[in-house]
Amino acid sequence: MNNPIAGFSKLSKEQKINWIAKEYFSSPNDAIELIKNYWNSDEKLQKLHDEFIENTITNFYIPLGVAPNFLINGKYSTIPMAIEESSVVAAASKSAKFWSERGGFKATVIDTEKIGQVHFIYRGDTSKLELFFAQIKSKLFANTESMTKNMQKRGGGILDIRLNDKTNLLENYFQLHATFETKDSMGANFINSCLEQFAKTLKDEAQNYSLFSDEEKDIQVVMSILSNYVPNCIVRAEVSCPVANLKEKNIENPEDFAQRFVQAVQIAEVEPFRAVTHNKGIMNGVDAVVLATGNDFRAVEAGIHAYAAKSGQYTSLSHAKVENGIFSFWLEIPLALGTVGGLTSLHPLVKLSLEMLENPSAKELMEFVAVAGLAQNFAALRSLTTTGIQEGHMKMHLNNILNQYNTTDVERLATSRHFKSNAVTHSAVVEFIENLRK
Ligand code: MEV
Repeated sequence: MNNPIAGFSKLSKEQKINWIAKEYFSSPNDAIELIKNYWNSDEKLQKLHDEFIENTITNFYIPLGVAPNFLINGKYSTIPMAIEESSVVAAASKSAKFWSERGGFKATVIDTEKIGQVHFIYRGDTSKLELFFAQIKSKLFANTESMTKNMQKRGGGILDIRLNDKTNLLENYFQLHATFETKDSMGANFINSCLEQFAKTLKDEAQNYSLFSDEEKDIQVVMSILSNYVPNCIVRAEVSCPVANLKEKNIENPEDFAQRFVQAVQIAEVEPFRAVTHNKGIMNGVDAVVLATGNDFRAVEAGIHAYAAKSGQYTSLSHAKVENGIFSFWLEIPLALGTVGGLTSLHPLVKLSLEMLENPSAKELMEFVAVAGLAQNFAALRSLTTTGIQEGHMKMHLNNILNQYNTTDVERLATSRHFKSNAVTHSAVVEFIENLRK
């Protein structure tokens, strides 16, 4: 039975570690040693990481890999990817190479509008509220001027504010629905600050509005927060080539391959069980770049899956067709990303990743991320519709099993040789290692 603790966040890092080690581990000294082994020897760097969150005890490593040879809009790039899944970077690189020999990827940002809402309760006459809103709309803009000044200098700011009547969904529920342009920042702080000011103006002005009764004056703001659903902040990534040019190793018959590929996408378009896994493959690429560039992958995940369900049924984010002998494959996803602010200037590896991408604008980063998603989806569907996914996956996974069994260099060599021509399964590898050790 573990004990609760009061004032944990006030303890020193050392005290926190000691408490956890004593409370949860049969061998506290081993736990402490492991935790400390992951500390960075550069104390300044460690302190920087400690201060990202509360109660940091150590670092949790995820590999940062790179996928070279991405030809995007006629220019080559190497894409940084932070991910733990063994086959993802290899698959991205393979796709990048494949498409670089077939014209490359095309990426286009369609729109960059962000959204935020003030959710409030108003008990009274809706037409009076509408009149009131029309009167205070310019004040909502004016009262946020100190916040929007800098953003406006960069070409951004508040685009519009609307009053939405949501009383058909929830009694007395209204909202201010605001749209924003936040240029190279993701804009969460900017949007939330503007929204909180809107909420204040809304409440204060209601108090003085002569047409309102006392009950109508008493507007109750429930919350003011940006939306991570950004269906008008969209990027498109695509590839296309004559079907005959798809020919490669494992694609002996390109017509047959293109047909199976399109069918695989169509299945994900109509079948939610498949769509989720199909889109998960896209997110393998998306999240890895989002994470490496210090962006909020939870926001991106939530927004993209909402977009995938916008018709009322969860469906594929990507689409494919063969028309007039041309194979085309594309996706459109919503992405609210930043290349300034947040972690982008704080985390040294985020800075490194952005520099590797030649310090992109937020729009350019949207393009890289969408392309990584499409590349990943192409690699997965290519394997699934030809050799099956396990061949490549298990080859990559072999290394993880070898590490798990602390194999020596000699054992590694023998195992790798053996599994070049034999199917890799977890049990087959373990059996092989055990036989070697007998
Ligand atoms: C595995 O991480 C991703 C895949 O399952 C995606 C897919 O099935 O399309 C291979």
